[in-house]
Amino acid sequence: MEFTYGNSTTIMFGQGQIAAIKQQIPADKKVLVIYGGGSIKSNGVYDQVVAALSEHQWQEFSGVEPNPTVETMDKAVAIIKEQAIDFVLAVGGGSVIDGSKYAVAAAKYDGDGWDILLGKHKVTEAVPLAAVLTLPATGSESNAGAVLTKAATKTKLPFGSPAVQPIFAVLDPDTMKSLPERQLRNGLVDAWVHTCELYVSTQKEGAMVQDGYSEVLLRNLMTLAKDYNNRDNDGWRSNLMWTANQALSGLIGAGVDQDWATHMIGHELTALYGVDHARSLAIIQPALYRNQIEVKRAKLEQMGTNVFALEAGSDLAERTIEAIEAFYHSLDVATQLSEHGSDKATTIQSVLANLEAHGMVALGEHRAITLEESRIILEASVA
Ligand code: NZQ
Ligand code: ZN
Repeated sequence: MEFTYGNSTTIMFGQGQIAAIKQQIPADKKVLVIYGGGSIKSNGVYDQVVAALSEHQWQEFSGVEPNPTVETMDKAVAIIKEQAIDFVLAVGGGSVIDGSKYAVAAAKYDGDGWDILLGKHKVTEAVPLAAVLTLPATGSESNAGAVLTKAATKTKLPFGSPAVQPIFAVLDPDTMKSLPERQLRNGLVDAWVHTCELYVSTQKEGAMVQDGYSEVLLRNLMTLAKDYNNRDNDGWRSNLMWTANQALSGLIGAGVDQDWATHMIGHELTALYGVDHARSLAIIQPALYRNQIEVKRAKLEQMGTNVFALEAGSDLAERTIEAIEAFYHSLDVATQLSEHGSDKATTIQSVLANLEAHGMVALGEHRAITLEESRIILEASVA
């Protein structure tokens, strides 16, 4: 094992914590509050933020869409530059936080912000950012990554920089009370797949801390899914919010081989067909694991034993993939793409063309998922 690990985001967890942003943002900062389509206006979160900022100078930018676009976020960039904003507070789910990460980075860059996603501009500085999370799923509230879409070309790409890591994040489970069921289920699935991307890969020496903690997170998510009828309960909400955060806050990914192929192929389904992020993952992952079963066999067997408590046997890895699929189905999340509105061959061709255009031609922890492997995976994933 060899890694550098740190997570600099201060987490303020629990009911009523939104009020604490008053002390966390220096009093002399000129704040821009960024939010989405308005859910925070109807569930009381906006009012709590306004109360907490009563002694700050602040303004707002709204309308960040799910799967945030650079077209929208460039308007926030212009405000940050013109108004000399020196602190951004993102209030929402992963989309609002990711969009804000782009905005704080692009505001310190004179060129076209999309260069950040293309890797032409390496982000080394950004306007300070903090987050109030309203949807546990992505972990974006305390990590350095973001995913942006260019609507004009239907391109969805990730970037990351320590400069955009939120300084603090408020995780108040009460904010989840207004979440539509679809988003709650998405949160369970996204957190599950984040853990899998970091855990279901090979690690020759065995990373006992990372593996053991991953298994705890996966078992938590399974328990919460089984206990889904109790979702309107403080404990249920708190445990999902904290588990989803921990899945992608850095620890379980430290020093281990990371996969991310499911995410990269899934992003194309979202960009082309508008599939919810989490749902795109459930569509790709089982087929991808079947395609990569030999290299992932040992880890799938470990998952089968330690997460699903399956019996030993020569087909344990195969049964583990079936158990993963059953987990998605228990949440009413589909494992095949049916939203493509086209015939199967055309759909597969479109996804492959985008993967190629975006350089996604050697994916996974072994860079073994070429376009040919992706084609085989998509044959099974597309209905
Ligand atoms: O826009 P509003 O009105 O807030 O409505 C949102 C949106 O319609 C709504 N919502 C959020 N909190 C709510 C609520 N509705 C009622 N009550 C609340 N408390 O939920 C809808 C979806 O929100 P969104 O932010 O898009 O969902 P999510 O958190 O799943 O974020 C998905 C985005 O994050 C990216 C994805 O690619 C996708 O673009 N990801 C970011 C990652 C990261 N930065 O580390 C990693 C992930 O793998 C992922 O790729
Ligand atoms: Zn994800």
